[in-house]
Amino acid sequence: MNYVLAIDQGTTSSRAIIFDEALKVVAIAQEEFEQHYPASGWVEHDVSDLWSTTAGTCRQVIERAGVSSGSIAAVGITNQRETVVLWDRKTGQPVHNAIVWQDRRTASLCAKLRADGHEDVIKEKTGLLLDPYFSGTKLAWILDNVDGARAKAEAGDLLFGTVDCFLIWKLTGGAVHATDATNAARTLLYDIHQGCWSEDICKLLGIPMSLLPEVKDCAAEFGHTRPDLFGRELPILGVAGDQQAATIGQACFEPGMLKSTYGTGCFALLNTGATPVASQNRLLTTIGYQFGGRPTYALEGSIFIAGAVVQWLRDGLKIIREAKETQPLAESADPEQSVILVPAFTGLGAPYWHAECRGAIYGLTRNSGPAELARAALESVGFQTRDLLEAMHADWDAEAGGQVLRVDGGMSASDWAMQFLSDIIGAPVDRPEVLETTATGAAWLAGMQAGVYPQMEEFARDWSLERRFKPSMPEDVRDKKYAAWQRAVKATMQA
Ligand code: G3P
Repeated sequence: MNYVLAIDQGTTSSRAIIFDEALKVVAIAQEEFEQHYPASGWVEHDVSDLWSTTAGTCRQVIERAGVSSGSIAAVGITNQRETVVLWDRKTGQPVHNAIVWQDRRTASLCAKLRADGHEDVIKEKTGLLLDPYFSGTKLAWILDNVDGARAKAEAGDLLFGTVDCFLIWKLTGGAVHATDATNAARTLLYDIHQGCWSEDICKLLGIPMSLLPEVKDCAAEFGHTRPDLFGRELPILGVAGDQQAATIGQACFEPGMLKSTYGTGCFALLNTGATPVASQNRLLTTIGYQFGGRPTYALEGSIFIAGAVVQWLRDGLKIIREAKETQPLAESADPEQSVILVPAFTGLGAPYWHAECRGAIYGLTRNSGPAELARAALESVGFQTRDLLEAMHADWDAEAGGQVLRVDGGMSASDWAMQFLSDIIGAPVDRPEVLETTATGAAWLAGMQAGVYPQMEEFARDWSLERRFKPSMPEDVRDKKYAAWQRAVKATMQA
């Protein structure tokens, strides 16, 4: 039997999953790690946590699955994207904590670059916007704020990577400094049309190009793991950023196919095929996946707070103990009340890109309580998804906003939330049988490259539906609700 080990290094935890020859999950190991918030709007990870939880969960899952490392044919990696690691190429020591994708510390740098007229060229080359979300300005911040970092970088002593790249470097014992095209496409430094790092943007941000990794296809040779880690060398053969891996795991391989993943945030990707579509509606143009040196592009809408709003109900308001309590609470909410929560806890992402605004609640009455707040929290995820689909619809073609949405991620387990989603977008929502789509995507990339798993067409045929949610909300109610949401967002951005 051939197995594949998938590593999913996420924002709040690291996971390792063993898949069998039929691409079925055999065992999972997961470890959470600490989030560091050194200042308002700043989010960091201790780089040693990223490594120790990754290596630890890999060892655990191999043991739990009861497989020998000799039967693992390949390793696939998927990861939280945009998060920046900068380390010393000789000692392996990071020069700073990892600056996480959610971190807003470079908002003023982005505003300055925008005011100086640089957004258009950045957008044209990278498909992204000038927002602190992406890696480039975070990397510039480290070089400008950590003593001696710039001098070391200029001397060629430092290496930059998104988390995949850092893990590849660690797993291979420093032998390989490489990333894949989907992760490179999130850095603000990569020209998605030319398929190379942009000299102009690196110059603009003051980033020495010697820091940058080699960029490969998603299914490629990324080196071998150190033999002492798992008992023998294992080939790393697949890499993709987590949202792209989910797009692959959802088998969204045809132009027009669309998926939305509900984790901490929500990320919707629409496959636009070989053509990069420049968004007129503040969506991102990104690489969905790349094989044989040929990128397939996607339009992406990124929302920063989705599942995190349920965490806030649990840890902040303490009105639930577990995420699954949200559903019965929402069901019991008073239908007469229209409480709207705009969860702009860290500003708003697509399509608004408002880094400075903060969350707000509207429509409270004396009878509003935990049930109405829970419903408003779940509804906010549906409303935000509709915002993204409206923008996609306007950018691409008439079909994009009205067709089936494939969903995955923690919150997709909630029937209530998925029914509301279908109601508010007015389109079917498909939940697949396998909800481990991100890890499945990474495993398939590696296993396909190793010759264990089938090629794309056959893999896509095996995707199977668990449940389709169909819209049942009357159109006038849908329109009224969505209009109320739009008013609430406008007021939040103006507050
Ligand atoms: O762009 C950020 C995204 O990749 C993070 O995903 O699942 O770790 O919250 P997740």
